[in-house]
Amino acid sequence: MDMFVIQGGKRLSGRVAVGGAKNSALPLMAAALAAEGETVLRGVPRLVDVDTLSALLESLGARVTRGGGGELSISVFNERPYIADYELVRRMRAGFCVLGPLLAKRGKACVSLPGGCNIGDRPIDLHLKGLRALGADIRIERGYVVARASRLRGTHLYLGGPFGSTVTGTCNVMVAAALAEGITTIEAGACEPEVVDLGNLLNAMGARITGLGTPTLRIDGVERLFGVEHSVIPDRIEAATLMMAAAITRGNVTLTNVCPDHMTSVLDTLNEMGVRIVLGDRSLEVSIEGPLRPVECVALPYPAIPTDVQAQLTALLATVPGMSIVTDKVFPDRFLHAPELVRMGARIRREGNSAIVSGVDRLSGACVMASDLRASAALVLSGLAAHGPTVVRRIYHLDRGYEHLELKLRQLGADISRVRDEPANVPEALQVGQHAPVAPPHFEPTVKPNRNRLR
Ligand code: EPU
Repeated sequence: MDMFVIQGGKRLSGRVAVGGAKNSALPLMAAALAAEGETVLRGVPRLVDVDTLSALLESLGARVTRGGGGELSISVFNERPYIADYELVRRMRAGFCVLGPLLAKRGKACVSLPGGCNIGDRPIDLHLKGLRALGADIRIERGYVVARASRLRGTHLYLGGPFGSTVTGTCNVMVAAALAEGITTIEAGACEPEVVDLGNLLNAMGARITGLGTPTLRIDGVERLFGVEHSVIPDRIEAATLMMAAAITRGNVTLTNVCPDHMTSVLDTLNEMGVRIVLGDRSLEVSIEGPLRPVECVALPYPAIPTDVQAQLTALLATVPGMSIVTDKVFPDRFLHAPELVRMGARIRREGNSAIVSGVDRLSGACVMASDLRASAALVLSGLAAHGPTVVRRIYHLDRGYEHLELKLRQLGADISRVRDEPANVPEALQVGQHAPVAPPHFEPTVKPNRNRLR
């Protein structure tokens, strides 16, 4: 197992490119099962989750090949398999996205229930409700969802749940409805850019979907879909994470391959904190001019602050003097990063679905443990800002969703390395009885001319 060793205190600066969106790439890959011929996706990030889904698609009769430049080609040569095995789906919940495509194209699907998750309860009742409304017969047997339908039928359905819309639930139902007979209207569908990206892919394949990016989707079913070439949208969560890495080190970073339109709430919140953001053409520059201010923010479905940046934002606010409140209304229990941040000197109190953050002047490096993908990113950000070395363990969580994060951070001047998780690799300053004095990092804000300020 690997871990990161970070020497905090380097102000990040420079330019780095954001990769393709994981949460787009995965449902797009699954949708290739519903098409005839070859689907070629461009800008697919190199991630463990992509490899896991590739293995799942191969087990379902697809040939998946990687080309240069993030190209991934998927063609189905055998439509008989219909079982998505527990061993693969339990490793990555997005594997559940094969349910809609398999059912619609092959008339049956047997997909393992994903099981527990560190970010809280993640039911799949809305996926099943939507597919049942389209006429599927669905049962749960031996830990699997067993679904059958000779031909799905269009209908009018409501897909909202107690926590709002469902992203992958909307994806599953949208793909199924694209091949159903007649018209389907989905109310309270998810509006996330990743759902729009899937809708655009399906339309290019021959589907007839309107209302993408709104809660009401109208899908006029077609008989067949055909493989096409498609580019994955930039990863708005990776972009937000890198912006917060720049802000937490009070640095100056330019990101390329970004789509600022997908990030309005994040830009707005950072702007309210006093982070200076200059928008370019598919790029943005982040810098800090003066002291940052605390904020109150709430993670909600798009276009609000995404739950997937809640942990990173909490880490950043832990370094901003004053009291901030971060609430997560999508995954109310997604706060496993908080106790680890507290080990680094953060002052965070959990109250229900909120973290009350009293910012400190300086975090202190420590050995910390990643619990999930975005929590890992939050710990890395804190390590970049902390006084002394930080060790982040269990970074396999991070490798599921960030492509070479440490290389990108190093490109920006961070002192971060990936080493084997062995006692000998823990810096002396973090070994018991070896607390060597370390010079504290010094982040004075740089003063820059005030040009093109956001808003
Ligand atoms: N929910 C239900 N019933 C359902 C489905 C969801 O009650 O049938 C609830 C969930 O418990 C949650 C809320 O609805 O409270 C939203 O869940 P959603 O279904 O939208 O989540 P998801 O589709 O399983 C995707 C992303 C997550 C991201 C969420 C929310 C992918 C592959 N995953 O998950 O990404 O947090 O949407 O935006 O797209 C991540 O990248 O770290 C990650 C966890």
